[in-house]
Formats: sequence, C-alpha cells, structure tokens
Amino acid sequence: MPIKIVMVCLGNICRSPLAEGILASKLPKTKFKVDSAGTGSWHIGHSPDERSILTAKKHQLDISKQKGRQFKVSDFEDFDYIYVMDNSNYHDVVELAKNNDQKVKVELILNELFPNENVDVPDPYYGLQNGFDSVYKMLDEACDIIAEKLIQKHT
Ligand code: 4NP
Repeated sequence: MPIKIVMVCLGNICRSPLAEGILASKLPKTKFKVDSAGTGSWHIGHSPDERSILTAKKHQLDISKQKGRQFKVSDFEDFDYIYVMDNSNYHDVVELAKNNDQKVKVELILNELFPNENVDVPDPYYGLQNGFDSVYKMLDEACDIIAEKLIQKHT
C-alpha cells in the first residue's frame, strides 16, 4: 500500500495543486501517492488556475491535468497525511474530524519550515503572478523537508 498525502486549500485551484505537483516530484511514485482537495465546492472538476499551471511549468512541473475536488470526511481514512495551506483551512478540515486520530493527521504545511509558528501560505487568487511565485518558493521549501522526512520514515 502506498503512503498517501493530500494537500488542502480553499478552492483547490491555486495553492494545493502546486503543492501536490511539487511534493509528488520529490517522492518515488512506487511508494507514495500525492493528491489535493479544496474545502470549498466552487471548483469541483476544474483545472488549476492558469497562473498556477504557468508557475509549475517554469519549474518543469506539469499540473495541468489535475482536476479540482472537495475534501471529504472519508479522506481522513484514505490519507496518511493531510497538509493544509492556512489556518482557515485547518479549522475547516479539523471540524470534520471524527476523533483525535483523524485530527492529528492535519498539519499546517508551513509548520514544517517554521515549526509551531502557524504561518499561512497566502491565498494568491486575487493577486498577481508574483504572488504565485512566492507561494511556489514557500511550498518548494516545505516540500523538501516533508519529502526528506517521509522518505526516511517509509523507505
Ligand atoms: P486556492 O485559492 O484556495 O489556493 O485554490 C482560491 C481559489 C478560488 C477561490 C478561493 C481561493 N474562490 O473563492 O473561488
């Protein structure tokens, strides 16, 4: 059974598709499966935002085939690790948890870089392209740490 990780943001079109593509590129595909989801339902079935696709492409990642979906309660059982992009996502996801085992699977992604600081990955949706570039950098640094930990623990 592969180890499963899901990246969660609000819309599942800007931040979490990038996080999915970045982390997947750092892990062996035979052992790990990375997915993403949104807490909201607006973008179910949609491709990632063009600006996220472009940002990924600049770093040789193709995220254009991803499709938006909404986070669901069964994801707590399907996934081993749940990384959320901001504090609002954290509250929305934790609220759906049925017990403490499910709750402790949820972690703010930037706590991997800045432990216990509860820093948000800012939502770039209403901003400009440079917001996506800075989100990429944060996620890339956080995913380096996550990948290293997961590989050490599970391979
Ligand atoms: P994301 O950005 O959570 O990083 O995918 C957003 C995209 C769309 C919306 C909100 C956030 N929206 O309200 O449609």
